[in-house]
Amino acid sequence: MSTTQANKIEINKVATSKINQVDFDNLNFGSVFTDHLLECDFKNGEWQTPVIKPYAPFLLDPSARVFHYGQAIFEGMKAYKDEQDSIWLFRPDENFNRFNSSAVRMAMPEVPEEVFMNGLNELLKLDHEWIKKGLGNTLYIRPFLIATGEGVIANPSEDYKFMIILSPAKAYYSGEVKVLIAEHYSRAANGGIGAAKTAGNYAGQFYPTSLANKQGFQQIIWTDDATHTKLEEAGTMNVFFRINDTLFTAPVSERILDGVTRKSLIDMAKKEGLDIEVRPVLVSELVEASKNGSLKEIFGAGTAAVISPIAGFSYRDEYYELPKVSDSFAMILKEKLTNMQHKLIEDTYGWTVKVS
Ligand code: COI
Repeated sequence: MSTTQANKIEINKVATSKINQVDFDNLNFGSVFTDHLLECDFKNGEWQTPVIKPYAPFLLDPSARVFHYGQAIFEGMKAYKDEQDSIWLFRPDENFNRFNSSAVRMAMPEVPEEVFMNGLNELLKLDHEWIKKGLGNTLYIRPFLIATGEGVIANPSEDYKFMIILSPAKAYYSGEVKVLIAEHYSRAANGGIGAAKTAGNYAGQFYPTSLANKQGFQQIIWTDDATHTKLEEAGTMNVFFRINDTLFTAPVSERILDGVTRKSLIDMAKKEGLDIEVRPVLVSELVEASKNGSLKEIFGAGTAAVISPIAGFSYRDEYYELPKVSDSFAMILKEKLTNMQHKLIEDTYGWTVKVS
């Protein structure tokens, strides 16, 4: 596809918007979608003209590779509306670059920047009424790429479909989050796909997480697959630990996703003068810190959940409750980050990007 084709988006609008049927005060995360979606097919070795069209189911051949081999990647981003009704994205270049790194790891074609970015901007402009003003209101953006090529041979597909769908969202978690530290199941391994945002990474968590749910835990803190001694991620998020007044988070690796919220919090913590160390954190350190009272906070960080404080963790059948702290680092960072994303305070980092 030439640049002119990529810039030339075909737009077919809905006859009637369904926005009036939506209760924006009672949204279950990821269950309501806006009027339109973006679609761009990859066929005969070329990206076709992107199309914006009404949100609707679509047909795929039952032998499409995505169903059999999970050749599928996605991203999670958000759009925000400021008090003047302008729409903003947060570090969209990071999501775009990670999307294409995931594509490479899964033997899929990279999506051109014009398709991803221009397509997203046009889609957001069209569905702008779905983005509500005010802290806590966001539009969750889900770009994804699936293998649509027919045939159950276990080879990369030749055809693909790129789509962006949009979902108005408030909080990802409601209520307390208690976690179980993984001792047997693993999320990722060296040389594997843990650093890619690919569908199977998430599906693989469903069963161990359902076992944890039965024991009263909402999420799992994943440990390294080889020794189960190092703390790596929390559920679908990166994870931070505060021991005394130092924050710790694991370095990204082949097993740990390079989270946009994670890297933003690290930079913000440094600028806010909080002590932060990026290094492997051991389960034994956490248990010891909890026992001696120096463990103050654990929180997950991700686009969907933003910052999710953890109330306590279980390890080897022992439950460790986190204290209630008045100077929560999680809350300081969350307030700063969300205020910046909604343009309620100045963005001194240059991370917010205006759509319109
Ligand atoms: C996100 O935080 O955006 C993610 O992609 C996690 C997803 C499971 C909701």
